[in-house]
Amino acid sequence: MRGVNGYRFMKFSFRHKLGASLLIVVWVLWGSIIVGDLLIPAHEPEVPAALKLVKTSPAPSTPAPSAPAGATGGQSGEGTVAALLASADAGDGKKVFKKCKACHTADKGGAHKVGPNLWDVVGRAKAGAQGYRFSGVLAGLGGAWTFADLDAFLAKPKAFAPGTKMTFAGVRKAADRAALIAYLRSLSDSPKPLP
Ligand code: HEC
Repeated sequence: MRGVNGYRFMKFSFRHKLGASLLIVVWVLWGSIIVGDLLIPAHEPEVPAALKLVKTSPAPSTPAPSAPAGATGGQSGEGTVAALLASADAGDGKKVFKKCKACHTADKGGAHKVGPNLWDVVGRAKAGAQGYRFSGVLAGLGGAWTFADLDAFLAKPKAFAPGTKMTFAGVRKAADRAALIAYLRSLSDSPKPLP
């Protein structure tokens, strides 16, 4: 009986072990499936992260081409504005000036609005409009408004005169600025000679 019992026990124990190990195998397989499932969402954030990298990498390169474009507006202002002014049309500039009208008058003796009257501004001392309170920034620029300085200022006022109270983004197109400056030049009894 003992032996039978022992056998039975062994048999049971063997079966139990077999069952247990089968269970373990099933668990391991099942577990690996769960882990595998867990790994997939774990991988997913990596994919958008990688995508983000792809997405963000053109982002810094997008301002990059515009930065040299802005730089050329300011840097080669002298040459560019001179070349563009030669063929610029003050009539076109008058249309561009619509952007300025909210803050500036253009007629002789016109009132100052948010910004100063711009009659005869070309060649005039910077911050030189009589009876207008300029910011310290503009007053501190010094010198007269040359064609090149106007070009650089109007391209990006905040870059040319950091802290200026002229809250205007700028006229991006060089041709539009040239036309605008040609118009500003025409606002005079004796327009300054072209550069
Ligand atoms: C939102 C209002 C606003 C707009 C729009 C605006 N300006 Fe101005 N502008 C000002 C202010 C304010 C100042 C004085 C800036 C300072 O003192 O810092 C100024 C100053 C200037 C000056 C310097 C004048 C001087 O006597 O030194 C020029 C030139 C000028 N603006 C041209 C323009 C032109 C051209 C446009 C249109 C493309 C324009 N502004 C659009 C508000 C404006």
